[in-house]
Amino acid sequence: MKPGLVIVGPLMPRVMEGLAPLFEVHKLWEAKDQDALLAKVAPTTRAIATDGTRGASADLMRKLPKLEIVGCQGVGVDAIDLAFAREHKIVVTNTPDVLNDDVADTAMALLLATIRRIPQGDRHVREGKWLKAHMPLTDTLRNRTLGMVGFGRIGKTIAKRAAAFDLKIVYHTRTIQADQPYIHYTRLVEMARDADILMAIVPGGAATKHMINAQVLEALGPNGYLINVARGSVVDETALVKALQQGKIAGAGLDVFENEPNVPDALIRMDNVVLAPHVGSATHHTRNAMAQLVVDNLKAWTQGRPPLTPVK
Ligand code: NAP
Ligand code: 8YV
Repeated sequence: MKPGLVIVGPLMPRVMEGLAPLFEVHKLWEAKDQDALLAKVAPTTRAIATDGTRGASADLMRKLPKLEIVGCQGVGVDAIDLAFAREHKIVVTNTPDVLNDDVADTAMALLLATIRRIPQGDRHVREGKWLKAHMPLTDTLRNRTLGMVGFGRIGKTIAKRAAAFDLKIVYHTRTIQADQPYIHYTRLVEMARDADILMAIVPGGAATKHMINAQVLEALGPNGYLINVARGSVVDETALVKALQQGKIAGAGLDVFENEPNVPDALIRMDNVVLAPHVGSATHHTRNAMAQLVVDNLKAWTQGRPPLTPVK
């Protein structure tokens, strides 16, 4: 008999197709009464498939006492209760590396769009304003320092691109990386003072919650820009809105939000902010690679092999 698998929400077709031959699949989001479905399938369900947004709460995992593995379509696992998983010896897998390039491309696209006001230019043309006046000049990437908030797999991939744009790169992490040629800052606020742009690419969760706060934004200064491709929770959004309203920073490019898909009206109304709907990894190529890795991890588990990319 195939083991049971609960899929929390719709994932890529490749996940569905890859897991159907291996598991008895239960689609949680389609159930009218989710608790009733969980109670029915609990005796045989040993796996969950989810994504980085929906995650897996302790409440959900507790309802599946035979659970052994959670496969996440996404590298960020802040929406999965890792403490509960650890305590109950549940393996969690994610999808590192396969998304580095597309997320880094998104980060650079947001950076350029924000500083060179590309969406504003698009609106200038569409709204017929070009017929009346040239678009105002914009800021530049020339002679700028990029402060990387987080310098892991994706951070380094962004830095590779940023170096090709001749940006000076510095970084803030908890641990200095001795093999890196860039200046490390132990204190984020000090890096913000020295940088022109902050690029957030750290994991979400309690340890990084609101690490970019009013003080950091003030240190970044009136000519500074914030780009966030990490998690909404990393930035104190209320402080960010205030800093933008008061001209304490020059602008922001945001792919992620504290309460997404809800974006504060204040941000939507601001012309010096570029917004994206959490699309860092959202290409056919990368989402399929992430989906395949979810399948490969869960397949390995069904065959008694160690998962390929367990979260440490
Ligand atoms: P990673 O390789 O684990 O790198 C994480 C980096 O953050 C490391 O340099 C780490 O260094 C640093 N860091 C962790 N906690 C920190 C803290 N408290 N203070 C300062 N630095 C800290 O992860 P990754 O693969 O690059 O992914 C990073 C995150 O990007 C994911 O977790 C996810 O949330 C986000 N993401 C977003 C999208 C999107 O669509 N927008 C897509 C993919 C990923 P230390 O451990 O030395 O501190
Ligand atoms: C996904 C992400 O869009 O990998 C991550 O951490 O944020 C994105 O690649 C997210 O997991 C939702 O599926």
